[in-house]
Amino acid sequence: MLGHFITFEGGEGAGKSTQIERLKTFLESCGQSVIVTREPGGSPGAEKIRTLLLSGEARELGPRGEAMLFAAARADHVDTKIKPALERGDWVLCDRYADSTRVYQGEAGVDTDYLRLLETAAVAGVRPELTVLIDVPAKLGLGRVASRAREENSDGPDRFEEEALAVHERRRQLFLDLANEESYRFAVIDGTEDPDRVERAVRDAVLKAFSSTLKPVRHESEHGAEPV
Ligand code: TYD
Repeated sequence: MLGHFITFEGGEGAGKSTQIERLKTFLESCGQSVIVTREPGGSPGAEKIRTLLLSGEARELGPRGEAMLFAAARADHVDTKIKPALERGDWVLCDRYADSTRVYQGEAGVDTDYLRLLETAAVAGVRPELTVLIDVPAKLGLGRVASRAREENSDGPDRFEEEALAVHERRRQLFLDLANEESYRFAVIDGTEDPDRVERAVRDAVLKAFSSTLKPVRHESEHGAEPV
């Protein structure tokens, strides 16, 4: 495919969305065409499934049934949005993807082989070239989510945010284990740092992973890496 596929993963309140927007701005400044998308959702069909999943309405299906819904949403998202964008030559920055299923539904007790089968079917060969894992302690991430909710006066935690701290910490460890197992495609970034530092770390990871596409040069007057 002509384009490039980067996924962002991490627990609640890791700061993924902020960093995705910043990376988009950077890549556009390099003359690249970029789309930002998210899971669950990202396409009209998948957004309907997102509503079912995050409201908790699908909880009665159990973790295995929920995993199937995440996979169904992903299949639609891949077919109708991600694949066409990659075929056009766009960069696709996706907020969560298959690793979230491995971690969240894996932590909920769904069998690994079953999850792998669903994943293979859903992604249809469309796998990220780079996965940016923004790592923060669960307590810090949940604290950020709670203060954002207070600022926005929103309706309280969604189905997955409301779980116990220990569950969030186990997910964090599962993400780190995954990054260790598939280190060839992961960049683990410390999300406790201030957003400008995290942005620079993400940018460096992208420049490293795509060094043949984006060539960094350092001008005397500049502190950061800039593309040619
Ligand atoms: P969202 O509001 O997009 O959260 P965040 O800002 O943390 O990405 O909600 C998505 C929730 O769905 C999040 O708690 C993780 C969960 N999830 C899964 O359990 N499995 C999956 O495959 C995906 C993509 C998300």
